[in-house]
Amino acid sequence: MCGIVGMISYRKVSSLLLEAIKKLEYRGYDSVGMACLHEGSLEIRKDIGKIADVDSKVDFTSMEGTSGLAHSRWSTHGAATKINAHPHSNMEKSISLVHNGIIENHHELREMLVKKGYQFSSQTDTEVIVHLIDSYYRGDLREAVSLALKKIDGSYSIGLLCSQHPDILIAARKDSPLIIGIGKKENFIASDVPAILSYTKKVIYLENEEIAVVKRDSAQVFDLDGKERKKEVHMIKWSTEKAEKRGYDHFMLKEIYEQPDVISETVEGRIGDESIDLSSEMKMSAADIKGIKRIIIVACGTSWHAGLIGEFMIEELAKIPVEVEYASEFRYRDPILERETLVVAISQSGETADTLAAIREAKKKKAKILSIVNVVGSSIARESDMVLYTKAGPEIGVASTKAFTSQLVVLYLMTVYIGAVNGSIVTDQVKNRVRDIRLIPMQIRSILEEADHVELHAKKFFTKENALYLGRGINYPIALEGALKLKEVSYIHAEGYPAAEMKHGPIALIDKNMPVVVVATQDNRTYKKVLSNIQEVKARGGVVIAIETKGDTETKKYVDHNIYVPKNSYILSPLLASIPLQLFAYYIALLRKHDPDMPKNLAKSVTVE
Ligand code: F6R
Repeated sequence: MCGIVGMISYRKVSSLLLEAIKKLEYRGYDSVGMACLHEGSLEIRKDIGKIADVDSKVDFTSMEGTSGLAHSRWSTHGAATKINAHPHSNMEKSISLVHNGIIENHHELREMLVKKGYQFSSQTDTEVIVHLIDSYYRGDLREAVSLALKKIDGSYSIGLLCSQHPDILIAARKDSPLIIGIGKKENFIASDVPAILSYTKKVIYLENEEIAVVKRDSAQVFDLDGKERKKEVHMIKWSTEKAEKRGYDHFMLKEIYEQPDVISETVEGRIGDESIDLSSEMKMSAADIKGIKRIIIVACGTSWHAGLIGEFMIEELAKIPVEVEYASEFRYRDPILERETLVVAISQSGETADTLAAIREAKKKKAKILSIVNVVGSSIARESDMVLYTKAGPEIGVASTKAFTSQLVVLYLMTVYIGAVNGSIVTDQVKNRVRDIRLIPMQIRSILEEADHVELHAKKFFTKENALYLGRGINYPIALEGALKLKEVSYIHAEGYPAAEMKHGPIALIDKNMPVVVVATQDNRTYKKVLSNIQEVKARGGVVIAIETKGDTETKKYVDHNIYVPKNSYILSPLLASIPLQLFAYYIALLRKHDPDMPKNLAKSVTVE
């Protein structure tokens, strides 16, 4: 995920672009760059690092010109280096281009362009687009862009300037957001509304496969065949502060709602119609994968809960024994690691000190380290032998939501990939597993559509001071995660337990003042047992809120309150069950008048031991 801003104006644009791109830093921050068109030539300045650091090095605001582009990058293809930072240029430096998205056929296009004599200076898929446009350019810039985009498979939003056409800025999109801002004697393009809200509140939303020709006093939109489209201009009513949250009241809620898109982004480029391929990221030969005898997962907090679910997935599908360790305990335990042990570190921030220390300990013992990390270029990513990025985009709310579900998705992809390579999963089953994960974004959307139902339940329970969360099998870690979310943002004391363990102690706490949240989704393993556990609670006067499978008519006979989620495979059921529990915690925090984005005593990245 990257941030794009462009501007064509009557005034110097560099400082305005700089302010605008800072508003999109949440979309990516491993490098930043700017192109400005002045007196017939394009100047580009760019470097790795956060926007403020790069600006203090390259001094963006001294760039002259009344049109320009800026980009903040979240690397996908090509490492976070200065050369891979955007904007990218054609060989004559007459075209500058910024891009967000993934060009899936970039290898083929690159080979074709190299044969034609094009020289590439970066490892990015983006550079392919600019040379491709150059190869079609015969004087009509819009036409050249259309022809190039027709050759591209994948997703893109682009902004482009050409020194031969100083009066236009071109923008286009497919499966990646881009808007046009309509100002007075100046117009804009941006990945997201907050970037331009201090300059204009009037926007046009570009649709897939549309190209905009933006001038100082007009903006026309065309389809890829050059037919003009009439577009509506929308008035944005959000305040600047609200716009950063894309209209949501809190980052936590925005991030909960981003999950369908985040999951699509996490699987994009990794799954085919019937297969999963992580070979370029995992960099292990088939023989090495077959040789994995044991997996140790190290992580903290919510990431540790993802690890517990990963244990179920891996043992069940890839048939490799797994141990899940708190990273903080692992390093002080003198763990026994063999060469055939794969250590998997899970961390949203990639900077958690305990997890970092755990992988350093494992490295000393010569184990191979694979990390599942959200922040590109973070310390854990850099110190690992292999990295699988979760591609959730920056998570700003302190309580982890979208990073957690994207960790589950990556664990699932990794499991199926390893299982297919080591022969534990046969081709037919891989096909079914791919079909199941493809359903998840749509299924999460349907849960989110019923968020107000969860809010009603929150209203019934927000005054309680304790809660118990129960689950079994692969959904036991969801009970832990649901309880953690509630305590983090609402400060209600909550405990997660395996449902059957309840009778060995916590049952003593059950009465009408102790709400019991039970993950009771249907499966052919523990569902019936969970129903018995629910009845044990009811027999002691407890109040039960159950997360149930849509269409289940049995559970509701025993429980007081029902929340429904769609059916998917047992292995993917935690992804769906976690969503209403995130919403439940969020609404309870609001009702108790707490800011869910900034829970007391917590930090987003825990860099101390
Ligand atoms: C809970 C939460 C924390 C983190 C933990 C590990 O909502 O966010 O429990 O999961 O501090 O952080 P990372 O994943 O960055 O290593």
